[in-house]
Amino acid sequence: MDDAMTFYDFRPRAAKGGGCRGGAPRAGAVAAAERVVAAGGRRAAIGVVLGTGLGGLADRLGAASVMPGHETGWLARSSATGHAGRLVCGLLYGVPVAMLQGRVHGYEGFSPETLSRGVELLAALGVRTILLTNASGGLRPDMRSGELVVVTDHLDFVRRPWDAALEPAEGVAPTPGYEPGLADLALEATRRVDAVARRGVYAFLSGPSYETRAEYRMLRRFGADVVGMSTVPEVVVAGRMGLETVVCSVVTNVARPDAPSLTDAEDVCRMAAAAGEGVWAIVEALVHRAAGRPRCGSC
Ligand code: HPA
Repeated sequence: MDDAMTFYDFRPRAAKGGGCRGGAPRAGAVAAAERVVAAGGRRAAIGVVLGTGLGGLADRLGAASVMPGHETGWLARSSATGHAGRLVCGLLYGVPVAMLQGRVHGYEGFSPETLSRGVELLAALGVRTILLTNASGGLRPDMRSGELVVVTDHLDFVRRPWDAALEPAEGVAPTPGYEPGLADLALEATRRVDAVARRGVYAFLSGPSYETRAEYRMLRRFGADVVGMSTVPEVVVAGRMGLETVVCSVVTNVARPDAPSLTDAEDVCRMAAAAGEGVWAIVEALVHRAAGRPRCGSC
């Protein structure tokens, strides 16, 4: 018997927020989770979506099984650079963790209901706490490439019905699930490895091109700290499903509206990968918390 099964309760949890009629992953996600388990994957307590350039972190899981996303019969195949599109299920300090290496984006032509499939699959695998990561452009003049932003709220400039698939009750306000306690935990974890990190607001734009100088200025005035093209649909749906959510964004380029420079997808991937230790520190902190253990001396 899988010893992790005796320790963690993988039953779906009731959604928070009261007004949500859905709150559970769709049937397709549940069937995909069963397929994953039948193929040797394991259920998980912690879920992680690894954004641009961060996919390599999944190699650190022990006893891992790897499944190409499309073989789940549920996940779509990403064409974006740095998004391998695999599901990795494994153990970290004995805690079952599921990681998605990459995600799909609206700018690749995927419909809103497709963008949340990854988090629904993780929820169907039993995940209750989820770390969503991404690469972003920094909007604050004092930012440096490579620093981390623990996202505490967002501006959604795309706003389509991300959560329609989960049938929210009419008139219910969106309930993004950014968990303040987890943001604190994440920041503390990054400090332990001397990563530069701060709290911030993420602006979600459709892309695929980066912003104009005028747009960067506008976003800053609107109160955004970083800008990117992903994650918000996942945050909204994760909140609907009652998952505790923490978002960590790697600043891969800093907007300099008055001295613009060129950034390409390869630069973004390289910069994100270099910030991996800070992101990994957050994963470890979540795992220790899930196990109810104080962290070990070295992590
Ligand atoms: N804008 C939008 N998305 C991004 C950026 C950016 O400057 N950098 C990395 N992802």
